[in-house]
Amino acid sequence: MKAKQKAATHAIAPARGRLGVLTPGMGAVATTFYAGVESVRRGLATPVGSLTQMGTIRLGKRTEHRSPLISKFVPLAKLDSLVFGGWDPIPDDAYTAAKKAGVLEKDHIEAIAPFLKQIKPMPAAFDQHWVKKLKGMHVKKGKTKRDLAEQLREDIRQFKKINKLDRAVAVWCASTEIFLKPGAAHRNLKTFERAMDRNDASIAPSMLYAYACLMEDVPFMNGAPNLTVDIPAMLELANERGLAVGGKDFKTGQTLMKTVLAPMLKARMLGLAGWYSTNILGNRDGEVLDDPESFKTKEESKLGVLEHILQPAMYPKLYGKIYHKVRINYYPPRGDNKEGWDNIDIFGWMGYPMQIKVDFLCRDSILAAPIVLDLALFTDLAQRAGMHGIQEWLSFYFKSPMAAEGLTPEHDLFIQHTKLKNTLRWLMGEEQITHLGVEYYEYDAE
Ligand SMILES: NC(=O)c1ccc[n+]([C@@H]2O[C@H](COP(=O)([O-])OP(=O)(O)OC[C@H]3O[C@@H](n4cnc5c(N)ncnc54)[C@H](O)[C@@H]3O)[C@@H](O)[C@H]2O)c1
Repeated sequence: MKAKQKAATHAIAPARGRLGVLTPGMGAVATTFYAGVESVRRGLATPVGSLTQMGTIRLGKRTEHRSPLISKFVPLAKLDSLVFGGWDPIPDDAYTAAKKAGVLEKDHIEAIAPFLKQIKPMPAAFDQHWVKKLKGMHVKKGKTKRDLAEQLREDIRQFKKINKLDRAVAVWCASTEIFLKPGAAHRNLKTFERAMDRNDASIAPSMLYAYACLMEDVPFMNGAPNLTVDIPAMLELANERGLAVGGKDFKTGQTLMKTVLAPMLKARMLGLAGWYSTNILGNRDGEVLDDPESFKTKEESKLGVLEHILQPAMYPKLYGKIYHKVRINYYPPRGDNKEGWDNIDIFGWMGYPMQIKVDFLCRDSILAAPIVLDLALFTDLAQRAGMHGIQEWLSFYFKSPMAAEGLTPEHDLFIQHTKLKNTLRWLMGEEQITHLGVEYYEYDAE
């Protein structure tokens, strides 16, 4: 019964030097992330919500009492080594953008004002066709989409050089683009590059960033629901160049709740008749999502969750007729302080109906900022450990996780959490924890 599955410790390059964190998009999420990290570095704040900074990991048997901090267990980059950069079609520096975003209180922003003021956005690869509600005034010009990608590559090279960076990672924190299905141009790297040259309509700006980052050896994580790196061409490029990628769409508020509650229903074999989710939010993201085409991208990302968790084909009597609706309503008075309601119609023993109501008064960017930090640090770790392609172990952070072809993505938050921690154990040559536990009881005696 004492199965040992110690993996050989992986060779992980040390986290030497400085790590650049590039965010396409310098709005509410990105500036809350920069400001939070700097406040933590100065001892002014606690990194609540960040697994890399606050989480521990159990190693070995429960009787061994070994539970180090994750940051002591795996060789993560230190917060002091992080350098921030970004692009935005709005020319505001991070100080002005943070003030406009209205997430952080004045005192928090003013305490680090000089730091935030020096983070100035690079001109964006932007096209209003993809984000209808925004007007870009700080944008790159180029004859072809390939020209724009080349300019982004040059930005990355300069950013690395000026800041004397050892390595960099990118986390997409820009607006949600309009809905797009994978098409012929995305099929492989060759078709993608040709499509950039002829300004093909199916090449979105976010794809140009992903392409530029990967070409400059910068792994890329996607915090929005747009396809971006989730197309064969980008996966080919990432695998060819040995780079880590992942996405899509930070899992923060309502979907976080959904991926906790739905597994509970399934674990107890309770039925579900309907799940109505609605939100009000008043930040710029809410305004962008007020456009039906951008909302469609978000809706797809939010809707898939229940189907994957509840497996209606396997449990038709319990989940065969679910009515699932998701609404996002732009309501300016609330700013970044979103309110998400869920009305869940369930049924139990002999089909008797019951209801669950959730009212989550959350703060969008306060929930998203620690995710950006964890993704940056874990992606850098994966990269140094030679893990390339889709980082499925980081599904924990995403609403619509990318997975290898033919695999159904894992949405259950606690399975995702176990997967993440087991990956860390595997990386460091520690035993996987299966929670079997029979070894603690008599019948385990050999
Ligand atoms: N906050 C959350 O809880 C949460 C959760 C999941 C996903 N997201 C996603 O994260 C992203 C950022 O959210 P936010 O609240 O910071 O939004 P935001 O509107 O405050 O910031 C987005 C920024 O991206 C910029 N932008 C748009 N197109 C760009 C381009 N092509 N290149 C560079 N910059 C561009 C915009 O000008 C804006 O400043 C959104 O896509 C949102 O849907 C957020």
